[in-house]
Amino acid sequence: MSLIIAANWKMYKTVSETKDYLDKFTGNTFNKTQVVVCPPFTALSAASEVLCGTQTALGAQNMNWHTEGAYTGEVSPLMLKDLGVRYVIIGHSERRHKMNETNADINQKVLAAVEYSFTPILCVGETGDEREAGRTKEVVLEQLREGLKDVAADKLKNLVVAYEPVWAIGTGLAASAQDAVEVAQLIREELKPFIDSGNTKFRLQYGGSVNKDNIGEYVSAPEINGALVGGASLQADSFAALIRAAEEAVNDEGD
Ligand code: PGA
Repeated sequence: MSLIIAANWKMYKTVSETKDYLDKFTGNTFNKTQVVVCPPFTALSAASEVLCGTQTALGAQNMNWHTEGAYTGEVSPLMLKDLGVRYVIIGHSERRHKMNETNADINQKVLAAVEYSFTPILCVGETGDEREAGRTKEVVLEQLREGLKDVAADKLKNLVVAYEPVWAIGTGLAASAQDAVEVAQLIREELKPFIDSGNTKFRLQYGGSVNKDNIGEYVSAPEINGALVGGASLQADSFAALIRAAEEAVNDEGD
């Protein structure tokens, strides 16, 4: 699979909406894409039943790093493992900025993901103010370094990093492919020790107002292997169309 495209449903969809969506969506076959669907916690169990035995993988949108304990309202790696979850979104900007998650929290979550053999989808990205102040590189590198602190390449089998400029999320103002590639190159350079270790399968996604009309621009760049999609993943038919558009763009590139 040359592409990895993940649906981040955020705080949308009840159990019955989840089942309806996935019943429809699993009728599609994709040849080049690992699709990951990340419903809210309350719908994970239902999603797991529908997705069992299909090619679509299940992801969670967050995870506490403790195995169990007195953490009211939190969900542990053990609980997610039990549901067949394989991917976990960690450090999404809405959690960083609306729930005050720190790089240190995110690092604990990444370490727990490694311990429980989930593939972390580690989200990084600068705010609009940080970009305007010329701090994009500094912010992204700090998020990567602190998020992956003490993570050993020989333990990390799979890593997805989603570059999601905060100003592009849910705004309709997607980053230009050129800007996305520039940061993707920076991320790849920083993660060279993992990539070159031969042990970590690394993939990079762009996220932020991705839709079926712009996805091709990102995935036709060799530095970008897919997308983390919010709004445009909420309807089964249009999400499937977005994935097809990505596969066509990769085809066009002779991949
Ligand atoms: P968006 O969200 O596609 O709606 O911009 C992306 C995300 O938050 O991951």
